[in-house]
Amino acid sequence: MGNEILVESHVKKIVMPDNLKMGLMIAEQRKKCASVGCNVEYFALGFGQSPFHVPPPLVKALASSANQGHYSAAEGILELRQAISGFNKRHFGIDVDPSRIVIGPGTKDLINTLVNIVKGGVILPSPSWIGYRPQITLLDKHFHIFHLKPEFNYRIQPDDLDEFVSKIESEQHMMVLNNPHNPTGTVYTKKELEKIAEVCRKHNILVIADEIYALDTYEINNFTSMGLVYPEGSFITNGLSKDRSAGGYRLGSCILPTTSTEELENDFKKVAATVYTNVSTPTQYAAIKAYEPNEEIEEYINITRQIHRIMGTYLSEEWNKVDGIKATKPEGGFYFFADFNELADDLKKKGVTTSNQLGESALSCPHHIGIITGDACLLEPNDYGARIAFVDYDGKKTFDNYKQNPPRSNSDELVFVKQNAPMMVKSVNALKEWVSYIKQF
Ligand SMILES: Cc1ncc(COP(=O)(O)O)c(C=O)c1O
Repeated sequence: MGNEILVESHVKKIVMPDNLKMGLMIAEQRKKCASVGCNVEYFALGFGQSPFHVPPPLVKALASSANQGHYSAAEGILELRQAISGFNKRHFGIDVDPSRIVIGPGTKDLINTLVNIVKGGVILPSPSWIGYRPQITLLDKHFHIFHLKPEFNYRIQPDDLDEFVSKIESEQHMMVLNNPHNPTGTVYTKKELEKIAEVCRKHNILVIADEIYALDTYEINNFTSMGLVYPEGSFITNGLSKDRSAGGYRLGSCILPTTSTEELENDFKKVAATVYTNVSTPTQYAAIKAYEPNEEIEEYINITRQIHRIMGTYLSEEWNKVDGIKATKPEGGFYFFADFNELADDLKKKGVTTSNQLGESALSCPHHIGIITGDACLLEPNDYGARIAFVDYDGKKTFDNYKQNPPRSNSDELVFVKQNAPMMVKSVNALKEWVSYIKQF
């Protein structure tokens, strides 16, 4: 067969996800460095996966579920949906009948199914997680970028949303509301969510409430699920990938709105059955363990949450001290957002003319700082911003150290960071050196 294989044009509209692209860029940079004998270290602040081990009860449950080789229902096994219902009641105070819960291969796939099924364009607040836009593009749906303002710490302002949506003609909209937010680390208060919900009711906006970092909220009592505030219009997605560190298990859940009809539930199942049949049955059986009450897993979530808080507070404060950079203070999750716009003139003089090139410059030799910038965060080309992930440390060792000797004061926490995350501490110096290089004539 001599002819080139032809690929559909909608596939050409998306590029490799930027977290993966970052891996390739680092590999390329390493090759270049090796060829000139450079052995300066790399700072991995780009890829944002939980650094911790999978909780042992979940690992054991997966091993003992290996004989569950049969197909299962497209919406997931009932025992798991019941366990998720109980989990939502315990943690978030939401009453949800298992019939409103659908299991999928990760929340990413569930969001994809939602965007596929639900009519209307998608409002994407920016900055944003890198995953949403490519899915929407691949499905050939419309999206509308709603820029969040740094002066409001990138929190959605209900009046702005009201004005923004008023200009879009559509009988129904969808909006992604990621809380805690990747990349800024924002956690919305209940009052803020109520005001956002009012605007959603007014304009018939359905919310894709991506709450994958919910249990990684540092002050857990500050977290409110959109399922409590706007149950009639929210699709709530969550899963095992972040607070239970099992991203590779590929298991997530979606709670359908209270107004969902049997027809919508069936549409969801129909698409799931058509696209992936069911989530791996052994993984579903194992996941029951992760959702049922379990002291070891609760302790695991509490400890990892505290470690994320300590690491995020340290790194965001250090970045904020660097002249020309404004960093958000994360309240949950494992990212913060850094604004480099004060350095715009200096960056341009150094040939960094777009926000995408900001990431390339930070990664270049000898700086070696891997961060996610530019359109991967849904930024405009002239908006110099970046997502910083603070998970560059040995998760298991750090977890064990915390358990043995939890830090009890701010100064203990600083010692804890220095002992457990030396590369993150060093990355601050690398950042300062890169900023001085940018400011040099
Ligand atoms: C905001 C956000 N939503 C969804 C996901 C995807 O999660 P899952 O592994 O459940 O597909 C991620 C993972 O990085 C994320 O950061």
